[in-house]
Amino acid sequence: MPTAPPPSAPSATALAPPLWATAGFSFESPSEAARRAARPRVADFYTRYGNPTVQAFADAVAELEGAEAALCSASGMGAVSTVVLGLCSAGDHIVTQRQLFSATKQLFESVCPRFGIEVSFVDAADTAAWREAIEPGRTTLVFAESPANPTLELVDLAALGSIPGVVTAVDSTLATPLSQRPLDAGIDLVIHSATKALSGHNDATLGVIAGEKSLVNELWQYGVIHGAAASPHDSLNASRGLKTLPLRFARQAQTALAVAVTLSEHRRVDRVYHPCLPGGGQQELACRQLRAGCGLVAFEVTGGLDPALAFLDRLTIPLLAPSLGGPETLVNHPASMTHASLSPDQRAAAGVTDGLIRLSAGLEETAAVVADVDRALS
Ligand SMILES: Cc1ncc(COP(=O)(O)O)c(C=O)c1O
Repeated sequence: MPTAPPPSAPSATALAPPLWATAGFSFESPSEAARRAARPRVADFYTRYGNPTVQAFADAVAELEGAEAALCSASGMGAVSTVVLGLCSAGDHIVTQRQLFSATKQLFESVCPRFGIEVSFVDAADTAAWREAIEPGRTTLVFAESPANPTLELVDLAALGSIPGVVTAVDSTLATPLSQRPLDAGIDLVIHSATKALSGHNDATLGVIAGEKSLVNELWQYGVIHGAAASPHDSLNASRGLKTLPLRFARQAQTALAVAVTLSEHRRVDRVYHPCLPGGGQQELACRQLRAGCGLVAFEVTGGLDPALAFLDRLTIPLLAPSLGGPETLVNHPASMTHASLSPDQRAAAGVTDGLIRLSAGLEETAAVVADVDRALS
């Protein structure tokens, strides 16, 4: 029976990983095909099941997170949906937070109820409320996003990780493994939108889930049916991005904090959201939990919608775009962009006002970004 050639020898010594741009693999015999098909997270059977280029990125994230195993998905939302729908069934109960990325919020508020999954919402920073919301025997999943997008509230991960009898999952996209490792705090699963800082160049749409092998294998089984399989091309871009993550993240975190400090004293800003800001309410938790800070800052422009939009118009360095974590500084008006699909009540519950701006720091000189933001406000 003809077979595809084995991986060429140069791939073992190449400085960069190879791209396995294939939908599947061929086999020497039916028994070999059956053997591979039966392997969990098989990477050399059919790319919806797994792929070597995709798995190389997943393995790198598993190492960074201190996880036994990791699984990629077609996007961050693919990863979030795989965790929620792969673990929960009709009659189950989920505890999550009010402050969530918009699509995750919609998953909990609109999709879960359609499947008979009940969801309770608590304030991210209210540590006692998370425990109180648990219904023993019925709560299957406790799902946190920390820092939360866009208002950057932190969840006390050690407190969450000590809750017994449930699966705990944390969307750690805004922290990256450089700033926090949720599994070290006793969390079962960590999720990333690798579209953001992990790949870091706005050229990949990708998600990743990392945790204990048996749990990741269970999610993989569901994921093969769910079908949100990651692209090998995007996974290759993400693996390249990972190599420079520490340098990029350090600059982004430095710029975001510098913008936060400047704006906290600005007369045209009502409120600044950054977990490490002195006097911000979560600084003690941030010092303990968020080792390297984060590359985002959010703030409310005094006067609401019109002054906020005028501010965006006057900026010269940041680009107006919905993503974050890339080389360019990006600004987003959540009420009309990333959170536009939510109702006004849902936006209010997530802390998204008409005057709120989110800034994702890029790789430009910190001083230049701070000066541009200051000038555009003044
Ligand atoms: C915290 C968080 N989680 C998940 C997502 C979804 O990621 P993706 O756009 O890759 O699906 C985002 C997107 O911005 C996010 O900020």
